[in-house]
Amino acid sequence: MKIGVLVSGRGSNLQALIDAYQLGKIKGNIALVISDNPNAYAIERCKKHQIPYEVVLRKNFPTKRDFEREMVRLLKEREVELVVLAGFMRILSEEFLSAFPMKVINIHPSLIPAFQGLNAQRQAIEYGAKITGCTVHFVSEELDNGPVIIQACVPILPEDTEESLSEKILKFEHRILPQAVKWISEGRVKVEGRKVIVEGAVYGTLPVNPMLEDFFW
Ligand code: GRF
Repeated sequence: MKIGVLVSGRGSNLQALIDAYQLGKIKGNIALVISDNPNAYAIERCKKHQIPYEVVLRKNFPTKRDFEREMVRLLKEREVELVVLAGFMRILSEEFLSAFPMKVINIHPSLIPAFQGLNAQRQAIEYGAKITGCTVHFVSEELDNGPVIIQACVPILPEDTEESLSEKILKFEHRILPQAVKWISEGRVKVEGRKVIVEGAVYGTLPVNPMLEDFFW
């Protein structure tokens, strides 16, 4: 399966995908990365790994619709079948989503439906939650919602700051995002209403150390 990745910044989740493809954990390839930010560090990662990328700036288009149509055009040109939002800081319209029905996924740094929107890690700390985590979900028009594919949980310790918590959650993001892409690429994912069913998936066995090699099922 050919995937397209949409980014706006650092691109560490993009890097996790690049690494998983390079290690042969996921079949297929990253056919295109689109950044809406010309200064995104994600672009450097593309250059380093010879991954095709395009910078598409919202300000160069009269309307959001034209901006999104250009992204759809570029993705279709590269025959992208799955679109991965990896730190892409824009909400996509129904028109974009209908170009890739149930084939747009997002990574969010909380256990949705808790703490949707920006600064999810800070929201969790300020709320006084004792557990948070990260979620990969199909994208619906509603912000940070849509059927959940995989989640990982991270405890919030009294001494945690937004930075320390973000760092801990990010390690798990880097494991569950490639995992979700792998499942979808293997055609193992079915969606029934809000429920995502993954053929042969073993849930509940996430190791405490997310860097453990045998993480991939
Ligand atoms: C991640 O925390 C992701 O969950 C959120 O934006 C951040 C992107 O980080 N949607 P990176 O650009 O992948 O390093």
